[in-house]
Amino acid sequence: MDIIIRDSYEEMSKYAAGKIAEFIRKKPDCVLGLATGSTPLGTYRELVRMHKEEGLDFSEVRTFNLDEYFGIGIDLEIPYNQDQSYARFMYEELLKHINIKEENVHVPDGRTKDPEKYCAWYEDEIKRVGGIDLQLLGIGRDGHWAFNEPGSSLASRTRIQALAKETLDDNYESFYKNAGIARDQMPHFAITMGVGTILEARNIMMIASGKKKADVIAKAIEGPVTSQITASAIQLHPGGVMVVLDREAAACLANRDYYIYAEKIKKQYSL
Ligand code: PGA
Repeated sequence: MDIIIRDSYEEMSKYAAGKIAEFIRKKPDCVLGLATGSTPLGTYRELVRMHKEEGLDFSEVRTFNLDEYFGIGIDLEIPYNQDQSYARFMYEELLKHINIKEENVHVPDGRTKDPEKYCAWYEDEIKRVGGIDLQLLGIGRDGHWAFNEPGSSLASRTRIQALAKETLDDNYESFYKNAGIARDQMPHFAITMGVGTILEARNIMMIASGKKKADVIAKAIEGPVTSQITASAIQLHPGGVMVVLDREAAACLANRDYYIYAEKIKKQYSL
């Protein structure tokens, strides 16, 4: 696991975007797993800048998003894509600014009437394109990866998941409150890739910033692997794993000095 610590959110975001750009340049038709939330906003901003100023080309890139609220456009009668859906988030924050082809973009469809069949299809689509080359992930305050809330099996696959209170609170503050949507009108379920699905990505990059993530980041990286903190499954991944943090999110890591040293010496030896 490469644990990269940067001084600020901006630097963390630049590092993460730079790594994603490296993947795209090496393999222009790479399959990216994408995440939503406040944390990746800076990473997406930087990718958009690289596209506009440096010609970073997304024309062959394929993307699969981790999750989507279930019920949007059905139970809540909010028109799809004029709402708080993750499809809309991705469109606004990244996709409409770059030259990606619409047919290469996949966000789970929260309007599906047959979730079981739909989730199996989503898994098959990921397999059909040869699997995910690089999966970007945040982490919830309750330790979740995507919407794999505490107690999700570490072998779980794409499915419907009930959202935890902590997740609803955080997402309400970040995305619903300002839109004038009442707390009890938020979707309480999501379609989410499973932890097992995520672990099949060939490379994983988890990003986190700010004090409120410090405790859970230490638990996920240095604590025991447990379904109570599904992001701790990162310790089981056999391939390329990067954790990119700002100083505040790294504050509770017991081995922080070692991680900083390891990055430096690897650079020195060009490893
Ligand atoms: P956040 O969410 O980036 O808004 O903190 C992260 C997550 O829930 O995975």
